[in-house]
Order: sequence, then structure tokens, then C-alpha cells
Amino acid sequence: MKKILLLGSGELGKEFVIAAQRLGQHVIACDSYPGAPAMQVADDFEVFSMLDGDALDAAVAKHQPDVIICEIEAIRTERLYDYEKQGIHVVPSARAVNFTMNRKAIRDLAAKDLGLKTAKYFYAKTFEELKAASEEVGFPCVVKPLMSSSGKGQSVVKSPEDLEHAFQYGMEGSRGDVKELIIEEFIDFDYEITLLTVTQQNGPTLFCAPVGHVQKGGDYRESFQPRPMNPEHVREAERMAKAVTEALTGAGIWGVEFFISEKNGVYFSELSPRPHDTGMVTLAGTQNFNEFELHCRAALGLPIPCIKLLRKGASAVILSGITPEQMEGEVPQFRGVEQTCEEDADIRLFGKPTVRMNRRMGVVVVSGDAETSNLDDLRDKAKRLASYVEVY
Ligand SMILES: Nc1ncnc2c1ncn2[C@@H]1O[C@H](COP(=O)(O)OP(=O)(O)O)[C@@H](O)[C@H]1O
Ligand SMILES: [Mg+2]
Repeated sequence: MKKILLLGSGELGKEFVIAAQRLGQHVIACDSYPGAPAMQVADDFEVFSMLDGDALDAAVAKHQPDVIICEIEAIRTERLYDYEKQGIHVVPSARAVNFTMNRKAIRDLAAKDLGLKTAKYFYAKTFEELKAASEEVGFPCVVKPLMSSSGKGQSVVKSPEDLEHAFQYGMEGSRGDVKELIIEEFIDFDYEITLLTVTQQNGPTLFCAPVGHVQKGGDYRESFQPRPMNPEHVREAERMAKAVTEALTGAGIWGVEFFISEKNGVYFSELSPRPHDTGMVTLAGTQNFNEFELHCRAALGLPIPCIKLLRKGASAVILSGITPEQMEGEVPQFRGVEQTCEEDADIRLFGKPTVRMNRRMGVVVVSGDAETSNLDDLRDKAKRLASYVEVY
């Protein structure tokens, strides 16, 4: 049995804990607030700000974990190198977690060092730099903070007049001490995918069937698997995912994001060195192992003989339509769950103790026969069933 310190205790962490415990592991779930989803199912928990290096050191010293797994990006990741030196196994590796917390490190690695195709991009610290860069990439373009996730501080800029707002919004949406933006060429893609990629300690790199997804405001609304693709584009995405995960080193699951244009091919976008939110579709039983089970096996060095697609599946998110002030009880309640459960589907309510407008509170997953079911029907069904659920 290994002692695992889990940094970040959201819904993805919760499913990871369940997978780890099924393999007999001991998990200490950490986050900045008590009662976080993963804490509810973990063996032990700690509440502290993971951006605070000293607090992180204290948690590591107290629990002496064998393994550290990061579920989120907002972590004082430089410290992970020290823990690795102390002999603690950081998943997938300190390098991977450190590189992916800042868009700059990972984008330069992918585009410059590895020569992968990406949107044209520049960095900007000042409004003048942003303006100059926008003239190079043209309009529309996309402006994002270097450090942010779930679409925070991100905007699509249609014309020069909107640049000022994009600059302010991006700077305000920056997490941590880095105040810098990336400005990217807008890729008019036909669709986007997450390629769940598994690197192993002793075994080949494996790929899940492509997960298609739809984002709104930079946040995921629905995902589905397998996203039908031109086989050449699949090979290209797999080649890129293999190159970038190998360069980052370590074993675990990675959510590698691509934009696919039928005309211009495959663009690498970004990646997470951990289970991906769009990969929650695997909770529908689309595969022999879901993405959390794969991450756990890879992290522990257990063999994964194969990844098999068993069924088609779709997921749709349940968002809070209310603010904390509008919440009626002490904890969030849900209406409409019974109606959702009347049909052949599954629902996961994450158990988050508080709401925010548009906070992800749950997900509906549905699956159908791998050969005979229709993916569009499954997507519609997941979205319809999720729409029955209301937070109050
Ligand atoms: N250069 C781009 N061109 C077109 N759409 C983009 C571009 N960059 C981001 N997007 C859209 O915004 C979403 C979120 O952007 P992403 O870079 O993945 O940020 P996050 O780290 O918040 O997930 C993407 O999944 C895609 O739908
Ligand atoms: Mg993304």
C-alpha cells in the first residue's frame, strides 16, 4: 500500500480517490476549503492554500507520502522538484506539473523544441505588446492569461477596439504572481478533441479513443467518445501526444487537447498531466478502465495490458444557475434528479459544499452499444437529462 498526497480535491480528485482505494491505497486529500469532493471519500484530509509553499512543505513533512498527485494547476509547483529529490514520487513528474501550470513553458516546448503545429502565438506583458502582437496574428484572435484555467480571463477578440477590454480581462483573470498574456491566432477548427494518453513506467504509451467536446466560455459543457476522426488525423494527434508527454517525462494519464481542421490538419493546443474534465465521459463505462483507474494504475506502476473501447458514451455538465446568496439551504440541493434517473443513464453529483454562478456541480453520463447506438442521440440525451437538474 502507498500513501498518496492528493493536491486538489475537486470532482476529478474524488473519482481518483475512489479508484485508488479500490486498489488498496491510502489517500490524503488536500484543498483550500473543507468538505471538498475528494475529501469526502479520502482516508484523511488537509485544508491549506497549495500556493503557499511553506504550508505545502508542512503537509508533506507531516504525512511523509510515497506519492504526490496534483489534481489542479494552482499549486506552488516549484517545490515539487524538492520533493522528488527527497525520493517522493511526483505524478507524472515534477517537470510535467511545473511545465503545464504556465502556458508559456508548455507552448514553447511543443512549438519550438518539438516543432508541433500550434496556433501562431505571441506573449504580451503590456497593452502595447498586445497591440503589436495582434497585428501579427490578425483578427479574430484569442487572448488568455499565461496562468489560468477553465476559460478564466480568456476572450476572443474580433477587432482592435476590443483589445483594451481583452487586456484588462486577461490581467484580472490571471492566477498567481505571473501577469502576462498569450495572444493566439484564432483557429477556425471543425471540432476539438482530448486525446487521453497514458504513459507507463514499464510499458508503451497507450491512447484512449478520441473524446470530442464542446466548450462555452472556455469551459466544458459536453463530451463524447469516440469522436469519429479521419484516421490520418488520429495518427498525427497520437504522434504529437507521444512526443510531448515523453518530453515532459513520467507515468500517468494526460489530457492532450487538439483542434482539428479538415482542411489544415491537427493543431496541438495544450495538455493536462492528469485526468481531464472532458474525460469524465469514461465514467459512462465506455472503456475497460475509466480515466481515473488508468491514472492510478500508471502512477503506481501497475501494468495496463490494453485499453478497450466497450461502448459509445456522452457526458453533459450540471452547472449552478444560482449565486451563493440565492442558495436556499445550508448546502446546495438538487431538483429534478428523479426525472433524470427515470431513463437509462447515470448521474454524479459532486457534493461541493458551496455554489458559484455556473460552477460545475455534477455530470450526467450515458452510454450505448459500441456498434449500433447513435452518438448524436447519446449527446442529446445527456444534455436533456442534465437540463432537468436544477441547483437551489
Ligand atoms: N487559438 C484558439 N482558436 C480557437 N479556439 C480556441 C483557441 N484557444 C482556445 N480556444 C477555445 O477555448 C477553449 C479553452 O482554451 P484552452 O487554451 O484550452 O484554455 P483552458 O486552459 O482554460 O482550458 C478551447 O478548448 C477552445 O474551444
Ligand atoms: Mg483546455
